[in-house]
Amino acid sequence: MRIVLVGPPGAGKGTQAALLAKNLSIPHISTGDLFRANISQGTELGRKAKSYMDAGNLVPDEVTIEMAKDRMEQQDAAGGFLLDGFPRNVPQAEALDDMLKAESMKLDAVLDLEIPEEEVVERIAGRRICRNDSAHVFHVVNKPPKRDGVCDVCGGELYQRDDDSEGTVRKRLEVYHQKTEPIIDYYRRQDLVVTISASGPVEEVTARAMQALGVS
Ligand code: AP5
Ligand code: MG
Repeated sequence: MRIVLVGPPGAGKGTQAALLAKNLSIPHISTGDLFRANISQGTELGRKAKSYMDAGNLVPDEVTIEMAKDRMEQQDAAGGFLLDGFPRNVPQAEALDDMLKAESMKLDAVLDLEIPEEEVVERIAGRRICRNDSAHVFHVVNKPPKRDGVCDVCGGELYQRDDDSEGTVRKRLEVYHQKTEPIIDYYRRQDLVVTISASGPVEEVTARAMQALGVS
């Protein structure tokens, strides 16, 4: 399957994408995680992305689209993928359509995670991620690690993301409403959108998602 996950910062895209990708045996491709990996490796791409991310803005399309395309062209994504955080505006959605069309491929669904803004703020405030891999995500209350400050998956150090400060989160939410929400209408016109509530325990949201995708 080829699935796009969309939802505001802190909705649980990364958390759900990891579980859904495992259930569906497809790779989880997160442009945010790819940027963070580049930043921690000190690459040129990471240096370009960091100032935009720290300010809560989108990284320019030419950089983002190229990186996402490279990742989608890798062998493990040939049979399908779950995109988390890409596309994030209409030009990126159009670029993805062009990429898929060139390979005679199509998206199967766009899963839209709906969540009240107060919950997003609480989720982001308590989030801790792993220095080794930002796809290893915890929450101080909702999903505490077994050992304080230590990743359950790989033993890495847990820390708070640089863009999770209150001011930057506000900016990210504003950018979401302005730039990302319009892609939901874009995909509605292609009849691809399934909307679910992202509130409630993680496993309940996963069950809702699997059912909405018709794979439970
Ligand atoms: P990105 O990394 O994609 O961040 P985001 O969209 O802001 O979303 P988050 O990762 O903050 O939240 P999430 O929905 O994944 O929630 P999570 O599962 O962690 O992007 C970061 C930046 O990179 C952007 O601002 C931009 O600068 C740049 N960027 C990325 N893609 C780009 C693109 N395509 N174009 C341009 N720029 C781009 O969950 C949050 C917390 O809640 C966790 O602690 C988790 O444990 C907890 N939680 C999750 N689910 C539940 C639940 N059901 N109940 C209780 N707690 C829960
Ligand atoms: Mg995420």
